[in-house]
Amino acid sequence: MIGILDSGVGGLTVARALMARLPGCDMRYFGDTARTPYGDKSREAISACASEGAGHLMRQGATLLVIACHTISALAADEIRQRYEVPVFDMVSVTAARALEGSEKGRFGVIGTRATVESGAYETCLRRLCETAKVFSQACPLIVPLVEAGYTHRPEAAMIIKKYLHPIKVRQMDTLIPGCTHYTAVENIIRRKIGRRVRVVDPSAAMADAVSSFLEAHPEAEARLRRLRSPVFEVSDVTPHWERTAQALFRQRIRLTHSAPVS
Ligand code: SIN
Repeated sequence: MIGILDSGVGGLTVARALMARLPGCDMRYFGDTARTPYGDKSREAISACASEGAGHLMRQGATLLVIACHTISALAADEIRQRYEVPVFDMVSVTAARALEGSEKGRFGVIGTRATVESGAYETCLRRLCETAKVFSQACPLIVPLVEAGYTHRPEAAMIIKKYLHPIKVRQMDTLIPGCTHYTAVENIIRRKIGRRVRVVDPSAAMADAVSSFLEAHPEAEARLRRLRSPVFEVSDVTPHWERTAQALFRQRIRLTHSAPVS
């Protein structure tokens, strides 16, 4: 089973891309809606919460882990990788590699939660792949609450996003990394405000491609993932608000079940 780990419901945008690309695979999603968002928490808190979620997915039989949340990927992916022997895919490595593939000038803009931006994980990863990469980052803490409040079509959302993008837009980057799962819901606004000359990476598509290429190269791993049942979507708190937000992000009806992982 592919275990998909998220801080809440934003990672459903990644789950959707994985399900479309790998329809024959068994998947279980866990989102920590009781403690979301992770983006303003400390490294210690993120790592403790993420470790419970990953442990839960492993106990349910995950043979491959996808960390769908950029914040967990930035702050706790190495720890999760060290703890388990299964392949672990994280959003930062996969998205940084995709960003680099099509960049002509090697100038990157990164937007994300406070924790992701302050961790410097994207800078580290991009410079590991290309020493001369220039990276300009901007924390956008208001975008997650805007998306979760269903404000994606309101003028306030466009205004706030424009303000956040301004300081990095003036840096002549050629590629923008939307480094948070929720940003998919405001992708059109981001593209419009950043302008046509900047390529905007699609992290969910990059993750679906990375997992699918890995499985093509490892048929034995693919065989272990063959679908036995319908995908399962678990969250640590089920409320009508989370059900509505999940449906909006997943873009189809979805049944959330409650699960409370223990450490
Ligand atoms: C969050 O939990 O604050 C946002 C999720 C993400 O970073 O992708």
